[in-house]
Amino acid sequence: MVGRAHLNNVTCNLAIQAKELHSLNTILMLRRSRIVKAGKRRIQRFFPGLKKPPKIDPDCPFGNAPRADRATYLKLHEEACARKYPEIDSCLERFNFPLDRDWLQNLALHTQVVIKYSPLNFQHGYLLYALVRKRLENANPGENLTILETGTARGFSAICMARAILDAGRTGRVITVDLIPHNKSIYWNCIDDNDGKKTRQELLHPWQEELESIIFLQGETRAKLNQLGLSRIHFAFLDACHTEEEVLSEFRYVAARQNPGDLIFFDDVTEGLFDGVVAAAKKIQRGGEYSVEYIVSAENRGYAIAARS
Ligand SMILES: C[S@@+](CC[C@H](N)C(=O)[O-])C[C@H]1O[C@@H](n2cnc3c(N)ncnc32)[C@H](O)[C@@H]1O
Repeated sequence: MVGRAHLNNVTCNLAIQAKELHSLNTILMLRRSRIVKAGKRRIQRFFPGLKKPPKIDPDCPFGNAPRADRATYLKLHEEACARKYPEIDSCLERFNFPLDRDWLQNLALHTQVVIKYSPLNFQHGYLLYALVRKRLENANPGENLTILETGTARGFSAICMARAILDAGRTGRVITVDLIPHNKSIYWNCIDDNDGKKTRQELLHPWQEELESIIFLQGETRAKLNQLGLSRIHFAFLDACHTEEEVLSEFRYVAARQNPGDLIFFDDVTEGLFDGVVAAAKKIQRGGEYSVEYIVSAENRGYAIAARS
């Protein structure tokens, strides 16, 4: 008998899969079961053109060959950089911690520009950078900032948050957890695949300064978080499994380690696509411990910022 939580977990993971076609090792283990059929139906509802969920090789979550040539990735990057996001621009003006666009766009070329069905959108990098800077503004002098990210993927957000610590002239660490290993050579469904397989460490080699403040952990978030022994989390970005249950479980772990002024950021707060994240954000808001602000960058991409009262 398969539990409801298990079903939620799998369907959520399949939805993340649909964003990038290849991703989680967990799906491989479960895809033969009937609950995955529910996940397939869900993907087909969101992506009617996608007849079959992708086949996943546990040793190569993004496939076993480059998915496009360099010119294709460059074209996608150019198109993504040209898109306008007025709501994000006005948010960033309010937060008042602009991040150098060339720096972010170059990072995005290697870590965000992938072959996927939904439009590329890396605006969360600007938001994360500004929010970490804001949080640091109110931190006690000399206080080390602890940032937790669940769902590293290629490391884009972890690098943006580490950059914020460096630009603020502060010390701190970004701890980031993913099922995908850090030191295994794989294809990443990005432009770098044209140079051959890389480890994440190699993919992120140009960002040495930022890497110094990032701790990469591999494993299921639930298991890893309980091994960490953290007593305080000033800022968290919860972006791993997108089921309500998993998001709330990670939220509870973080909330138990936060004080007034601390922040949690959620990506994919998008109704109809990631209902679990939306439901979790609403529940957190109703709980009253956090005030929640919703931001939309595009029709299919929303975020939430939860601030501890
Ligand atoms: C949406 S991506 C993260 C994107 C990344 N935060 C960024 O902004 O570039 C989600 C990631 O979560 C990971 N993931 C999903 N479920 C997980 C779980 N239960 N434990 C650890 N990682 C998980 C996936 O492998 C995937 O890389």
